[in-house]
Amino acid sequence: MYPRVNIDVKKYEDNVRYMHTLCHDYGMTMMAVTKVFCAAQPLIDVLNRLRVDFIADSRLENLATMKTDCKKVLLRLPSIHEVDRVVTHANLSLNSELKTVEALNKAAKRAGKKHGVILMIDIGDLREGIYYKENVLNAIRDVKALAYIDLVGIGTNLTCFGGIVPTEDTLKKLIDIIDMAKRILKTEFRIVSGGNSSHIHLMLKGKEIPEVNNLRLGEALVLGRETAYGKAIPNMHQDVITLEADLIEIKHKPSFPEGEIGMNAFGQKPMFEDYGLMKRGILAIGKQDVDYHEIIPCDNRIRLVGSSSDHIIVDLTNTGNDYDVGDVLRFKLSYGSLLSVMTSQYVVKHYG
Ligand SMILES: Cc1ncc(COP(=O)(O)O)c(C=O)c1O
Repeated sequence: MYPRVNIDVKKYEDNVRYMHTLCHDYGMTMMAVTKVFCAAQPLIDVLNRLRVDFIADSRLENLATMKTDCKKVLLRLPSIHEVDRVVTHANLSLNSELKTVEALNKAAKRAGKKHGVILMIDIGDLREGIYYKENVLNAIRDVKALAYIDLVGIGTNLTCFGGIVPTEDTLKKLIDIIDMAKRILKTEFRIVSGGNSSHIHLMLKGKEIPEVNNLRLGEALVLGRETAYGKAIPNMHQDVITLEADLIEIKHKPSFPEGEIGMNAFGQKPMFEDYGLMKRGILAIGKQDVDYHEIIPCDNRIRLVGSSSDHIIVDLTNTGNDYDVGDVLRFKLSYGSLLSVMTSQYVVKHYG
C-alpha cells in the first residue's frame, strides 16, 4: 500500500546510540525528542532498549500513550488547562509562566507527588522563555518556593524561531544567569538544558560549554544532521525515514495550462513557466499529506511541478521510459515533510 514511509529501525537505533554516547562523552545527558514521528512505539522501543536518559515530546497525548519506563519530559510549555494531565504523564516539563507553574504545583499536590520543572530562558531566539534581561532571579525564587515543584533546572531553546545559532557568546547569557543564581540565591541547577540539534555544531567543532549538561535532540536522531547549518553528522544515517508514492498517471502534456487562468483549488492564482511539452506523472499523495516543496526525489532526473490536496505532479521528461503507471518513486525528507507524513493517517508506516 502506498504512499508509505519506510522507517529503518536499525538505522534509528544506530543514530540514537551514537548521539547518546557522544552527549555522555561531552558530560551531557540526552533527551530523545519523539514528536517528529508521533512517538511511534517501535521507535520508543529503541529508546527503551538503549535506556536513554529522557524521552521528550511536545504533545501530552504522545507522552500519555507511549510505553516506557524512561523519564518523560513535556517539551512544549504546558497549557494551564491541562496541568493535572501534565503531572500524570510527565516527570518534568519546560515552563516560563509562573501562573502555570503555580497551577502545576496545585495539581502535583492533588496527585500527591512532586513535579519537575525546567525554567526556560529566552536568550534571543524569541520563542518561549523568560527574556534574559527580565528579572529571572525573581522567577527562580518564586518557583523554588512552591512545595510540590522540584526546580530541577534551567534551559534555553535556539535556532527554532529566530534561527539564532548557539555560540559561546549567545550561551554566555544563560551562563550569566546560572552564575547569578549561584551567587545571589545560592541555587545550583541539576539540569542545564542548553538546546536542541543546533547545539551539535559546537560539538563537531570540539567546543565544549561545560555548564551545559543536557541537550534535547529530535532532528539529529532521525535526519543525522545538526540544525545550525544543516550539516550531516559523520557516522550517522541521514536516511532513517524515506517516503514512497506511486504513479497513477503518466501523460505527455503541455507545461502551460490552456485557457483563462482563474483560481486553483486553494483560491490562489497560480503562475506557470512554459517548458514546452512535458512527460507528466501524478503521484497518489498530496497537500493533505505533505508539502511537495519539502520532499526530495531520490532520482535526481525528476522535478516536482506542483500539488493539489490529493495529487503531486512530477516532471518525468528526463527519465526516458524508466517509469510506468504503478511504479513507486522514492523521496528523502526534510524535517517539515517528516513531521507531516508521520502525522498523516493516509500514509502507511512501514517498519524495517
Ligand atoms: C523546546 C524544544 N527543545 C528541543 C526540540 C528538539 O529540536 P531538534 O529537533 O532541532 O533537535 C524541540 C523541537 O522539537 C523543542 O520544541
